[in-house]
Amino acid sequence: MGALYLSTPERGAVFARAFAQQLPEVRFWQGQADDPEAVRYIVTWTAPERLAETYPNLRLIFSVGAGVDQFDMRTLPPRIGVVRMLEPSLAEQMREYVTLGVLALHRDLPFYIDNQRACRWQTTTNRRVSERRVGVLGLGNLGRAALDALAPFGFPLAGWSRSAKSIPDVDCFTDLEAFLARTDVLVCLLPLTPETKGILDASLFAQLPLGASVLHAGRGRQLDHEALLTALDAGQISSAMLDVTDPEPLPPEHPLWQHPRVVITPHIACQTRAEEGAAHVIAGIRADRSGAPVPGLIDRRRGY
Ligand code: NAP
Ligand code: GLV
Repeated sequence: MGALYLSTPERGAVFARAFAQQLPEVRFWQGQADDPEAVRYIVTWTAPERLAETYPNLRLIFSVGAGVDQFDMRTLPPRIGVVRMLEPSLAEQMREYVTLGVLALHRDLPFYIDNQRACRWQTTTNRRVSERRVGVLGLGNLGRAALDALAPFGFPLAGWSRSAKSIPDVDCFTDLEAFLARTDVLVCLLPLTPETKGILDASLFAQLPLGASVLHAGRGRQLDHEALLTALDAGQISSAMLDVTDPEPLPPEHPLWQHPRVVITPHIACQTRAEEGAAHVIAGIRADRSGAPVPGLIDRRRGY
């Protein structure tokens, strides 16, 4: 009985050490298993082809990332559970990234970067934090971490989720229209599902206050890139910071690359750390073997 690891070799070496030290009773293969019938667990970013046939006793697929949208759930038999990455440094890194992005948008950094490129020494008025209402789409592991990180700055905070939530000092919404109407900096930390695909579209931008900003660190396919460009050029959206795009990377001629009020980062908000990732997977396998709930096991019907 064992676990098959199918991601980057550098991270795999760390997983191999952690399995040998902490879970020696579970065999660990990297790249290929000599006994596919013995594979109970797979750690990967994408699902290999003919997975169910090749590994007839597979119980769990562990994503090496927080997202699980790369798996086509329809092709996975119901007996296979899907587990998202929940290692603690992901939330830590998202706290940093959202703080960086919200402060950059709040303090008009895209405007100053554009001015610097033109050797222009020009100021704009600093707005009070109390006048900059931040709203986070998605109140899961990362959305909550982001809100927690922003709390000390004094921005009026809100969040939107599918189910009703109660978070101290955060206005929690399930009504998207009401949430958008009060949001000056919109942060997207939603999982990609059929419901959230294309959610950042023209209609959503039109419901934000005039001149709002967008920080997108969910998934590229949640964003209608053309609608964002139109909203930027019309002034409806004043600035944006994008960590995710579709495709990744955008082609060199894509206008978002050169847009004076857009900052793009190459999907680096969070990177799974190997040691913490291995600990999460080992904890999940231990839980599964003892019949306990597996941390990060997703609801396959919801898609997250
Ligand atoms: P999570 O814990 O599963 O939380 C997801 C949140 O989104 C939940 O609050 C959920 O609402 C809400 N949600 C989902 N579908 C919704 C819908 N249709 N309407 C309203 N709310 C909805 O996920 P997470 O760990 O925070 O991660 C979120 C996403 O961030 C990942 O899936 C991934 O795409 C992205 N991510 C990006 C990076 C990066 O480097 N850019 C890194 C890691 C993750 P309920 O609470 O009501 O269920
Ligand atoms: C990165 O985007 C992840 O899903 O961890």
